[in-house]
Amino acid sequence: MSVNQFIKPITTERKADLYIGGCNLLDLATVYGTPLYVIDEQSLRTICREYKHTFAENENIILTYASKALCNLTISKIISDEGFGFDTVSAGEIYTVYKAGADMKKVTFNGNNKTQKEIELALDLNVGRFSVDNFYEAELLNNVAESKNMQAKVLLRITPGIECHTHDYIKTGQIDSKFGFDLSQIDEIIELIVNKYKNINLMGLHAHIGSQIFELQSYSDEIEILVKELVLINQKYNLNLNELNIGGGLGVKYIEHDTPPTIEEFSEVVIKAIKSSCKKYNIDLPFVYIEPGRSIVSTSGVTLYTIGSIKQVPEGRKYIAIDGGMADNPRPSLYHAKYSAEIANDTYGRELEAVTIAGRYCESGDILIENINLPSPKAGDIICVYNTGAYNYSMASNYNRVEKPAMVLVNNSQSDIIVNRESVEDLIRLEEVPDRLK
Ligand code: LLP
Repeated sequence: MSVNQFIKPITTERKADLYIGGCNLLDLATVYGTPLYVIDEQSLRTICREYKHTFAENENIILTYASKALCNLTISKIISDEGFGFDTVSAGEIYTVYKAGADMKKVTFNGNNKTQKEIELALDLNVGRFSVDNFYEAELLNNVAESKNMQAKVLLRITPGIECHTHDYIKTGQIDSKFGFDLSQIDEIIELIVNKYKNINLMGLHAHIGSQIFELQSYSDEIEILVKELVLINQKYNLNLNELNIGGGLGVKYIEHDTPPTIEEFSEVVIKAIKSSCKKYNIDLPFVYIEPGRSIVSTSGVTLYTIGSIKQVPEGRKYIAIDGGMADNPRPSLYHAKYSAEIANDTYGRELEAVTIAGRYCESGDILIENINLPSPKAGDIICVYNTGAYNYSMASNYNRVEKPAMVLVNNSQSDIIVNRESVEDLIRLEEVPDRLK
């Protein structure tokens, strides 16, 4: 089994209390407070190594991690130390991975509306590849690179006509997407690059077909389209492009019902599709970038909350209120995402009850988990919500003016703070009151 097929971090143990990374979660809650993001280093390193080992024999594969899933100094350092490059989408992500010691040659800058300032920073820090998304950006990038007397190495983001939603996917000639060039626009942009944009050095093509994907066939179809387009471009413009970036998207197991493929199954499909498409078009194997985000970090992360008020609606639901919710994990309210959870305390002898876990934020929609069976939860219990490593911390907000949680890294019974909890002072730190109002 692969780490992304587990709901819980691989070091999770139930003694009497619940443990992760050898640390008692009740102790973590006492020492660091709640809500608390906890990252299990062993789960994180294990999945990185799984990716590395399954793709390793193929020298042409370049593994990059999509920082948007979870980006801070320590997480970036661990993933970089495991040999990954990074997919970044902002100055903030580029600066963070740079400070964490990333090999900048293996960093890609993606996004559909990069600003001039971000492009300047990316060039100054020698980001390896720009995934150029549209006509406006191609011109902007060329101008900025020219002003710095630099060459920007570029992949063209294309919309391959494949769209995935977890269990199924659709193929259409054209997709209404804000990202990338439609296949019908490729000629126009290549001609501009070849004839006009002298500071753009075109290397290949990029696509990303979706997130939380379980259906591997969609990757084969995507790769076939990318290889075909690469061949057409090389023939028509007498170029020698030899790089493809197939994006990220592999899914994880949030609830029992989810059945994501293993990393090995994923790699087999990808490698087979590359080899067979290259054979079909009689070309050498290109360099292939992969940029998973969720499947790298999701399973290693959990969030701890303390139960406060409990409300039994007469002849209705029982609401268990926690001290966090939609500001530290917006996914249930944004996407109706489902999660699994457990009480971290010793619950021996308690009866199971169907309850709804409600957040603390002032919106009826702030429900973290609807209808979950838990051993009669009590005020003061610690709830552990699983699989919160991806798109939780990175999408967190200060809604209701609540301080963002801390994050700790656990390993071998040791815990280290990697992000401090915000204070109320932090919340006003960047503010100014105009003198005339004082
Ligand atoms: N590459 C590109 C160009 C992307 O746009 C993304 C994600 C990835 C790679 C990484 O995809 P992953 O392996 O993580 O699926 N906030 C949403 C997910 C948005 C994903 C956006 N793009 C969520 O919480 O489900």
